Amino acid sequence: MNPTMSDLIKRAADDILEARHAIALTGAGISTESGIPDFRGPDGIWTKNPELEQKAYEAYGDFRVNPKKWWIDQLEGPVNILEEWGKAQPNAGHHALADLEKSNQLKRVLTQNIDNLHQQAGSQNVIDYHGNIFKLRCLNCNSRSSIEAFDLNQMKTTNQLPPLCKSCGDPLKPDVVYFGEPIPVDAASESEEEALKCDLMMVCGTSALVYPFAGLPIIAAGRQRSTLESYLTSGHVPTKSAVIFEINDEPTPLTNEGISHYLIQGKTGEIIPQIVAAVKAGI
Ligand code: APR
Repeated sequence: MNPTMSDLIKRAADDILEARHAIALTGAGISTESGIPDFRGPDGIWTKNPELEQKAYEAYGDFRVNPKKWWIDQLEGPVNILEEWGKAQPNAGHHALADLEKSNQLKRVLTQNIDNLHQQAGSQNVIDYHGNIFKLRCLNCNSRSSIEAFDLNQMKTTNQLPPLCKSCGDPLKPDVVYFGEPIPVDAASESEEEALKCDLMMVCGTSALVYPFAGLPIIAAGRQRSTLESYLTSGHVPTKSAVIFEINDEPTPLTNEGISHYLIQGKTGEIIPQIVAAVKAGI
């Protein structure tokens, strides 16, 4: 007989209470209840505008070729994504993960989202795997600056684009990882460390289709040995798979290939708070 929703909520709470190092991986699905569309769900950005996805594949190359033109095009573009997403507020799913961190039951959030909503909800230990829309980053020295430190529209009218890195003078780009762009070295190595040492991984609201992020649950499942040096530096060789469970509207490849142990199907904004309430009741 299939487990009921309350069986699964209780199972997740028990797994969290038993864990020594629980982490959460999140994708765009955790922010849809904050009004930010996901990419591949029924109302996803790529689902509704496939040509936008194609354009997203060109962004990184265009920047490398001509950063000044790239910035002018961005600032003259139809939608100022910062204004759009700047109004979004964290939802109950973000707040529930921040609560778990406050009670020291969640050690880290690794998010693919660039919307800063985990931080706004109060999560302190967040790895922005695909960057953060409120920052600029230097591809040369990886230093990051707040976007507020630059008046980009003023720089456009006074012909001072692109913004330059204060450390090395190279052109800055948004701290958003475009297709084809390497994951920032610090985010990549810290995330691999977390996947190697966690004993519980909650995978919330991601289609698990985009690598290398989607490879993190596979590392945690111990199915794909990571590079030797990451074992040597972390001093930790996982003896057995972490417990991995998903919270998603729909099954993903992690579900279908048996990498996650169970799927709690539904809305992250409804399910995560129920799990956290069950954890608190069980303490
Ligand atoms: N609750 C639970 N699951 C949800 C919810 C919700 N409220 N809303 C959407 N989902 C699920 C969808 O069913 C889908 O499986 O979340 C997943 C979102 O998947 P994607 O849209 O592919 O987003 P994501 O996995 O974060 O994409 C990864 O792709 O385009 C790149 O850089 C972009 O970081 C992004 C990466």
